[in-house]
Amino acid sequence: MSPFTIFLTTILLILLHHHRVTSDLTQETQALQTFINNLPHDSRYSWNPSQPICTWRGVTCDPTNSSVVQLRLPGAKLAGKIPNNTIGTLTHLRTLSLRSNALTGTIPPDFSNLVNLKNLFLQHNNFSGEFPATLLKTVGLIHLDLSVNNFSGEIPVKVNDLKNLTNLLLQNNKFSGELPSIDLESLVNFNVANNNLNGTVPMTLSKFPVTSFSGNINLCGNPLPSCNNTVAPSPAPVVGKKSSKLSPAAITAIAVGSALILAIILLIVLLCCRNKTKTGQQSKQVSKPVQPGGYRTGADVGTTSSSKDDVTGASAESGRNKLVFFENIYGFDLEDLLRASAEVLGKGSVGTSYKAVLEEGTTVVVKRLKDVTVTKKEFEVQMEVLGKVKNENVVELRAYYYSKDEKLLVYDYLPAGSLSALLHGSRGSGRTPLDWEHRMRIALCAAKGIAYLHVAGKVVHGNIKASNILLKQDTNRDALVSDFGLNTLFGGLTSPNNRVTGYRAPELLEARKATFKSDVYSFGVLLLELLTGKAPNQASLGEEGIDLPRWVQSVVREEWTAEVFDVELMRYQNIEEEMVQLLQIAMACVSTVPDQRPAMQEVVRMMEDMNRAETDDGLRQSSDDPSKGSDVHTPPTETRNSPATVTP
Ligand SMILES: *[C@@H]1O[C@H](CO)[C@@H](O)[C@H](O)[C@H]1NC(C)=O
Ligand SMILES: *[C@@H]1O[C@H](CO)[C@@H](O)[C@H](O)[C@H]1NC(C)=O
Ligand SMILES: *[C@@H]1O[C@H](CO)[C@@H](O)[C@H](O)[C@H]1NC(C)=O
Ligand SMILES: *[C@@H]1O[C@H](CO)[C@@H](O)[C@H](O)[C@H]1NC(C)=O
Ligand SMILES: *[C@@H]1O[C@H](CO)[C@@H](O)[C@H](O)[C@H]1NC(C)=O
Ligand SMILES: *[C@@H]1O[C@H](CO)[C@@H](O)[C@H](O)[C@H]1NC(C)=O
Ligand SMILES: *[C@@H]1O[C@H](CO)[C@@H](O)[C@H](O)[C@H]1NC(C)=O
Repeated sequence: MSPFTIFLTTILLILLHHHRVTSDLTQETQALQTFINNLPHDSRYSWNPSQPICTWRGVTCDPTNSSVVQLRLPGAKLAGKIPNNTIGTLTHLRTLSLRSNALTGTIPPDFSNLVNLKNLFLQHNNFSGEFPATLLKTVGLIHLDLSVNNFSGEIPVKVNDLKNLTNLLLQNNKFSGELPSIDLESLVNFNVANNNLNGTVPMTLSKFPVTSFSGNINLCGNPLPSCNNTVAPSPAPVVGKKSSKLSPAAITAIAVGSALILAIILLIVLLCCRNKTKTGQQSKQVSKPVQPGGYRTGADVGTTSSSKDDVTGASAESGRNKLVFFENIYGFDLEDLLRASAEVLGKGSVGTSYKAVLEEGTTVVVKRLKDVTVTKKEFEVQMEVLGKVKNENVVELRAYYYSKDEKLLVYDYLPAGSLSALLHGSRGSGRTPLDWEHRMRIALCAAKGIAYLHVAGKVVHGNIKASNILLKQDTNRDALVSDFGLNTLFGGLTSPNNRVTGYRAPELLEARKATFKSDVYSFGVLLLELLTGKAPNQASLGEEGIDLPRWVQSVVREEWTAEVFDVELMRYQNIEEEMVQLLQIAMACVSTVPDQRPAMQEVVRMMEDMNRAETDDGLRQSSDDPSKGSDVHTPPTETRNSPATVTP
């Protein structure tokens, strides 16, 4: 070959190569135009054909701009069937998200061309047909989410071919038949809840929690009740997750629970009567029956003086116990309080909370502590510390009461309820979703409250969770932190069985003493909860959620940060950047190494800076400007790796 021919060949090859690259993108451009033009869609996704495909909203190209590697159209108001020969031709696609649309029909057969696909998010649509056989050939899949669709038929055992799968989410479909023995080492999250599966849970899947399987009428075996118990007919599944998984064991549990509540009510009545008689005639007390073998949190009538009470160190009844007010803005005393009508608000890890309506109309929250381990002196010292805490983002402690049998705390009553109820209450049944502005506001209020506790109050909160963030009913929709600093009353220990595990910093498993840094971790989990709409593990409530930090990390690692965000947030425009920023803050907070977590006041500063940047840029106003639109689209790409770098 002469040098000249070599030269010519080289030129030809370069030209050919160049031609191949451009024609590839031409084909991808056409495919995506066909796709979007054939389906109704949000105007944000009316791509401009004269702009390069790599600048289109939702489209991400590889670093050399020679292929499309990500297509993300969550909440894009797409409806109808995916046309053939559109998305299926984007052979370089690694991540595809069409979640939270109204797509129907089957997955097109040409999806089998997507051999590079790693992450597929099709949840919250109306796709139907069998488990898409084409997906069983995309063996590189890591994250497969088909949940909340209309898929039916059996789950194929061939899922085992997807060796790298970490997340397989099939819940809320109509899958039927028996569960195959899915045995994938890599699998971290697995969910088939609320389908029509029957038979026994295979041993290979027993390691997943009950919530992964609940809502299948005829499914049984570990972790569900054993198969012998399913003879009794289960209630209809229509009402919701909870009722559809009622097993006889659960019914028994409910019966026992109801009995317990009854017993508690009885005891409260007894308590009221007893204290009235104490001031009045002592003789009447004889007629009060003692609950046999009952529930005893110190509310018992005086007939039993348990050794447990002696341990608490309240040695004598001598000094008359009084309701101690820090600043008596309320005009009531203990007698009034005990006469008040009480309603159980909730049972927590430290005791039970009651809403007490006093005769003169004041409503307060009375928290009745159980298993207090400190002496009266120690109790009072801690109360003095907590009583000094005064901040607009903290629910103030108004009064306390300490006696041998009874330890009460009195707080203001906030009728708007807790963040937990607002975020997770009646999901999916026509509720008003908690919007982004409100979530940000709540997060910032909570952060400020906790920072105040840490800096000014020198108090470790020790029990940060969504149900301890209470809401004001004012126009600002402010939030307040409640239930702080009670850990020390239990010897400063956080018992692994007793505390809400989902929010607990990993080091507490060993150190067991809550710290400022463990508070920061819990707050990080709270932020993740706000962002994802998912509740963390709440083992103490008998509910198994997910390990939020671990779950978020597993998704973020796979280059698709935005997939973690709550579906309910999809309807708001131009918040993605803020969500990613808040996610980064949250990920810093949940760092496994305590020293790597920012201090709470630092967290507040970061969140405030974040808000300021957003209002200064006027991002929210720019939603219709296509040039700005692409700016808004870019940041997730560059921030994609940041959470990973923040955490080790
Ligand atoms: C890829 O395309 C984008 C948008 O058109 C452009 O900003 C970027 O410079 C391109 N990169 C390369 C390597 O051509
Ligand atoms: C796609 O092609 C398959 C078979 O090739 C056909 O059954 C299906 O109806 C087509 N879908 C659409 C939306 O055209
Ligand atoms: C799916 O279809 C059902 C029945 O047509 C409809 O009620 C539901 O809203 C649809 N879901 C979505 C996500 O479009
Ligand atoms: C599975 O993951 C490993 C490690 O990341 C990778 O080497 C392998 O190619 C992957 N398998 C497939 C089928 O993609
Ligand atoms: C769900 O799938 C069934 C077939 O399995 C079909 O008859 C029904 O129309 C589908 N519903 C929706 C809303 O697509
Ligand atoms: C599960 O249901 C299918 C029909 O949907 C039936 O053929 C099969 O025998 C059932 N298996 C068990 C264990 O009940
Ligand atoms: C019920 O349990 C007994 C023994 O405990 C066992 O022999 C029997 O096969 C079980 N029945 C079912 C339906 O699993």
